Amino acid sequence: MKIAVTGANGQLGSDICSVLKQEGHEVIELNHDEFDIINYEFVSAMLNDVKPDVLINPAAYHHVEKCQNDADMAFSVNATAPFNMAKICKELNALFIHISTDYVFDGLKNAPYLETDCANPLNNYGISKLAGEQMIATTGCRYLVIRTSGLYGVNPCRAKGGKNFVELMLSLAEAGKPIRVVDDEKVSPTFTLDLARQISTLLTIKDSGVCHATAEGNCSWYEFASAIFELANIDANLSKADPSEFAIKVNRPKYSVLENHFLKSKKLNTMREWKDSLREYLSLRGK
Ligand SMILES: NC(=O)c1ccc[n+]([C@@H]2O[C@H](COP(=O)([O-])OP(=O)(O)OC[C@H]3O[C@@H](n4cnc5c(N)ncnc54)[C@H](OP(=O)(O)O)[C@@H]3O)[C@@H](O)[C@H]2O)c1
Repeated sequence: MKIAVTGANGQLGSDICSVLKQEGHEVIELNHDEFDIINYEFVSAMLNDVKPDVLINPAAYHHVEKCQNDADMAFSVNATAPFNMAKICKELNALFIHISTDYVFDGLKNAPYLETDCANPLNNYGISKLAGEQMIATTGCRYLVIRTSGLYGVNPCRAKGGKNFVELMLSLAEAGKPIRVVDDEKVSPTFTLDLARQISTLLTIKDSGVCHATAEGNCSWYEFASAIFELANIDANLSKADPSEFAIKVNRPKYSVLENHFLKSKKLNTMREWKDSLREYLSLRGK
């Protein structure tokens, strides 16, 4: 298949491209410097020229504090641009796969969120991503909105700069520093390579809708840090932090666990237990 991928050099985008290329697909890698998704005329001309069978959109404006301070940009990139790309996909009869987030939820459910649960985002990032999801649904294109959470990959997250959580923990341990991590937020840390492999199983899907795709199981950030050190066999100076130790600039959900209900109902769920994926990540990193 001919598959175009936006944000192709991002943490998730780069793994999507390498998995799809390994599987023999023709992959068109679209990077921000030459393909800005908010430039509708350019995006339309380019996609009409390329005519992909599938367009995958991991590109996003997703630094939470920046989104809070610049709602215009958050809505342009996370809502209007996906809406426009979905309209183009409708014209081209292409499947549109859009990446969304656990931050569409408020975290108050305290049980894994289903795709059908009511969204209630707590910040501009989540609001703009939810708006994008809903605007895509109005276009009538074939689409999948894939909500994921707590991504880490071998290529760093460009929006967050530098290190993912695993790399941050490893570098703090290497420096011999005391490491304080909160224990009151639940996540499903999701390895981008697993998500990329999962996305490759969905390219011929006939259904449109929202699909949760995160690692199986969940943990607190403290438990995630403990597992990193246990699996990497590192004796780190790790302890639980009081949440008040970290200034909260923007509200975020404290419980971010998603149930891969849609994938399981279609017998398509390939996502692994988070610790199994972490083991593969650490071995790829030579740990
Ligand atoms: N990271 C997480 O923990 C997490 C959790 C849940 C959901 N998500 C979602 O997962 C997706 C991928 O995240 P990631 O961690 O891979 O992020 P990332 O490494 O920051 O990748 C995002 C990519 O989007 C590109 N981009 C930003 N603005 C663009 C624009 N206007 N036009 C074209 N490209 C643009 C970036 O390019 P430049 O860097 O050159 O601007 C970058 O290549 C996002 O949709 C995010 O909302 C992430």
